[in-house]
Amino acid sequence: MSRWLLAYEGYDPRAEGVREALCTLGNGYFATRGAQPESAADGVHYPGTYIAGCYDRLPSDVAGHTVSNEDLVNAPNWLPLTIRVEEGPWFRPAEAAARGGMASYRQELDLRRGVLTRLIRFTDEEGRTIRMAQRRIVSMEDPHVAAMETTIVPENWSGRLEIRSALDGRVTNAGVARYRLLNGAHLVPGAEGEREPESMWLSCRTAASGIDIAVAARTRVDAARGRTASKERGWIAQDIEVEAEEGVPVTVEKVAAVFTSRDRAIEECTEAALTRVERAAGFDELLERHILAWGRLWRRCQLSVDREDVQRVLNLHMFHLLQTVSEHTVDLDVGVPARGLHGEAYRGHVFWDELFVLPFFSIRFPEAARALLLYRWRRLPEARWAARRAGHRGAMYPWQSGADGREETQRLHLNPRSGRWLPDHSHLQRHVGLAVAHNVWRFYEATGDEEFLAEYGAEMLLEIARFFADAAVYNRALDRYEIRGVMGPDEYHDGYPGRAVPGLDNNGYTNVLTVWVLSRALEVLALLPGDRREELRERLALTREEIARMEDVSRKMRVVFHDGVLSQFEGYEDLEELDWDAYRRRYGDIRRLDRILEAEGDSTNRYKASKQADALMLFFLLTGAEIDTLLARLGHPPDPGLIERTIAYYLPRTSHGSSLSSLVYAWLMAHVDGEEAWRLFVDTLHGDVDDGRRGTTAEGIHLGAMAGTVNLVQRCYAGITTRGSVLNLDPRLPAGIGELRLGLRYRGHWGVDLSCRRDRLRVELRPGVASPIEVACGGRTVTIEPGGAWETPLSEGRLPPPSPGPAP
Ligand code: BGC
Repeated sequence: MSRWLLAYEGYDPRAEGVREALCTLGNGYFATRGAQPESAADGVHYPGTYIAGCYDRLPSDVAGHTVSNEDLVNAPNWLPLTIRVEEGPWFRPAEAAARGGMASYRQELDLRRGVLTRLIRFTDEEGRTIRMAQRRIVSMEDPHVAAMETTIVPENWSGRLEIRSALDGRVTNAGVARYRLLNGAHLVPGAEGEREPESMWLSCRTAASGIDIAVAARTRVDAARGRTASKERGWIAQDIEVEAEEGVPVTVEKVAAVFTSRDRAIEECTEAALTRVERAAGFDELLERHILAWGRLWRRCQLSVDREDVQRVLNLHMFHLLQTVSEHTVDLDVGVPARGLHGEAYRGHVFWDELFVLPFFSIRFPEAARALLLYRWRRLPEARWAARRAGHRGAMYPWQSGADGREETQRLHLNPRSGRWLPDHSHLQRHVGLAVAHNVWRFYEATGDEEFLAEYGAEMLLEIARFFADAAVYNRALDRYEIRGVMGPDEYHDGYPGRAVPGLDNNGYTNVLTVWVLSRALEVLALLPGDRREELRERLALTREEIARMEDVSRKMRVVFHDGVLSQFEGYEDLEELDWDAYRRRYGDIRRLDRILEAEGDSTNRYKASKQADALMLFFLLTGAEIDTLLARLGHPPDPGLIERTIAYYLPRTSHGSSLSSLVYAWLMAHVDGEEAWRLFVDTLHGDVDDGRRGTTAEGIHLGAMAGTVNLVQRCYAGITTRGSVLNLDPRLPAGIGELRLGLRYRGHWGVDLSCRRDRLRVELRPGVASPIEVACGGRTVTIEPGGAWETPLSEGRLPPPSPGPAP
């Protein structure tokens, strides 16, 4: 096993979906699943290609309702390529395997170079054996280009070999079984054609959003004897004939280009795609430049641990993060889809998962993180409109966001277990706006980008704060503000048992984080230079009364406690206890307890049972000191055991039905129980690579959990927090790791190297860096000059306890 290789031996139809998702190749502009070029979508294979930000909306009729859904569109498939000998059947691995003709099949993903390789040996029905090696890239250098090189060796025969290379625009969005009843025909075929001597093209348009998409391909075969084209609406192929000789390799090179009418620096997308493939270099040169581009990315992602199994999965996670968001994303107007550009689950929508993804980029690719925040900033008008329609000021961000930032959450969802379509209230997760505000502030802290804060960040922060200050209702009897009728992150609870109106009151996470956001909004006002502050206040028509209200709410928000712990929401303590053991015995995997109970005619709303961390998210996002400050601001006396008690209370009551949950718990447990934390970390780490999510990886990777594991290493194990202008370090190496190394970009300092062993922590600032940095560790703050280093001893991977003072 190598740190940089994901390898699969043998052809296994049951595993194909997961392999396709995990072997997806992309560059932040578009991505193509690691599907076989020989097979169209057929229930086993699902070749999907997704262009960042390319959405389309269609109506569908379900359960007597017309619903409208926006999808990240499955774009035309550029992959199709297969072969046949002497007019025999076209080669399909599934068919060869089924008749016992597949001698060997190996698929490898080289994470460092971004190359997907397949090595196949098969024998056809006439006993002719063929060896095939295929390498594929989606160029990290030129975001519009993909390429595939196939080498075919006739082992024991000579004769006529035909190669079919095609472009398929007849694809639909059909990658998720649960969505099958929904309309997925997003592509309206345009035209298709050939251009001499080697190219073909295909164009189409998305049904409602009217985005033109063009794909072109140039297929080159050495010693080609003839080429014939065939086409039908939405599909074009070139059949290329070769006289193959025993033992002599035939090389086929397919270079494809993808453009849309949204692209810049083009006149028209079909011509752009054709020109790009015609001018493209050969495969080897494209590959070389692609590898160089990946090299540049990896140099900015230095993170290593001395455990090969862990490192390999961390590399896989960083690989998929960089394929979803890269420097090519910077110029696009896109957010980060929860399931990457890797599949169709959640329809490519953008959730609060950014919260988990952004920290990865902020200290490595701040320009990409900034671009993701600008996606939210551009959708402020829509968020303001949503707030207005809900009767509030400020900006109310949608739980699920797509093209224009309106609420994209489905109003009905299918429980596959019961077959019932159910009302979906998850749009009540107003906390998504708090996540946007949190991201703005943490980005500012990590980068020190004052220009961003003044131009865009402050506006988002203030508008979000304004919404929550306005949505909070004053309860005179308690002299407290309350936020009613919302949902927290835990999706098992969308209302009270017996109450007709959905929503919960005083969700602890929402209320406390609102106080944090309000405090930051007030801080930002104080931070901005006077003229810019006045300019902004004027532009937003932010009155003194509103600022006073923010201040007041931030001091009088209601936070509910029960049994000495933070309540998930008001009334949580009245819910029934679930018999967890009985459900585990009966069902085994109870991560989707909501579906199990609904199918039984029951509801998770009745129980003290959570899908994922909710109140505990606070301890994940904020330090203990920050929580103390917030609670003190609200007039609650310090409660030293609160965090530990709250973790101990909710952990056994959580099913981890979301991939984000075990991640959060791993972070929390690291402060309580190192071994349990490590177990949870490893569990999250293997969620996708071992498809621990019970088949859901095939529908797309879990990007938030992937990013979260990397963040856990840097934030928890290396103990890095960026507060103010000081880099804070508080390492906690788990027993499973002997050494951890990280290279970071911190507030414009490109070149902070950190190494953490069980016995010491060392921070270096590379020579040539513009100015010194300040590091705080174990109660001391030190300044490190460029070219300088600082070391401190650790005991078992942690800072030793402070030495006792002199005896009296
Ligand atoms: C989780 C949400 C998450 C979404 C997208 C859901 O299962 O409950 O917290 O945002 O998946 O990843």
